Amino acid sequence: MLLLRTRHLLQLLLLLSAMATTQATATLSSSGHDDDERALVAVKAKIPSHRGVLASWNQSTSYCSWEGVTCSRRHRWRVVALDLSSSQALAGTISPAIGNLTFLRSLNLSSNGLQGEIPPSIGSLRRLQSLGLTQNLLTGGIPSNISRCTCLRVMNICSNKGLQGTIPAVIGNMPSLVF
Ligand SMILES: *[C@@H]1O[C@H](CO)[C@@H](O)[C@H](O)[C@H]1NC(C)=O
Ligand SMILES: *[C@@H]1O[C@H](CO)[C@@H](O)[C@H](O)[C@H]1NC(C)=O
Ligand SMILES: *[C@@H]1O[C@H](CO)[C@@H](O)[C@H](O)[C@H]1NC(C)=O
Ligand SMILES: *[C@@H]1O[C@H](CO)[C@@H](O)[C@H](O)[C@H]1NC(C)=O
Repeated sequence: MLLLRTRHLLQLLLLLSAMATTQATATLSSSGHDDDERALVAVKAKIPSHRGVLASWNQSTSYCSWEGVTCSRRHRWRVVALDLSSSQALAGTISPAIGNLTFLRSLNLSSNGLQGEIPPSIGSLRRLQSLGLTQNLLTGGIPSNISRCTCLRVMNICSNKGLQGTIPAVIGNMPSLVF
């Protein structure tokens, strides 16, 4: 009898400690988790028309399985790629919140109907290696902040409605740019 009770107590303790560990893990990863999810939700909010392309961007699944979103294997819950290219479906603007996806290495929104300006906050994407914004309806100048993306290798922003102004001279200082 005593043995049985001790065993139950032990099982209860094990269960409690397992729960505590799970909670601690959840808390640890929560900062990146919340930030990236909030940024993606803000990105979607500026794309009112998407013909269902962003239908999976809802709370029923983790944002790492949302259409076009790839999360890091090493840094759990951090978005490393966003590819919504070639859907011809997205109409709206590019939210400045995109600059909060600070682990992003690849951003491709080519061949859609996005309007407005390229947000200067894109300069916050210090790990960005590839940027595709071709064939949209973007207007305005090329933000000089883009030169802060020192890892950027490929930048394709051609075939838009009205990108204008001068090409910022600082682009000549971008160490990784090859295209
Ligand atoms: C983006 O980051 C800034 C600075 O940390 C914060 O103030 C803002 O609320 C964030 N926006 C979103 C949509 O997460
Ligand atoms: C939410 O996303 C799931 C797929 O992740 C999809 O099956 C479901 O239809 C979506 N819900 C809405 C309301 O769009
Ligand atoms: C653009 O870069 C400057 C520094 O070069 C910085 O002060 C400013 O906050 C940046 N703007 C955005 C929107 O990130
Ligand atoms: C963006 O995606 C298209 C295919 O959808 C591809 O052809 C293009 O090379 C990509 N651009 C960048 C900069 O990755």
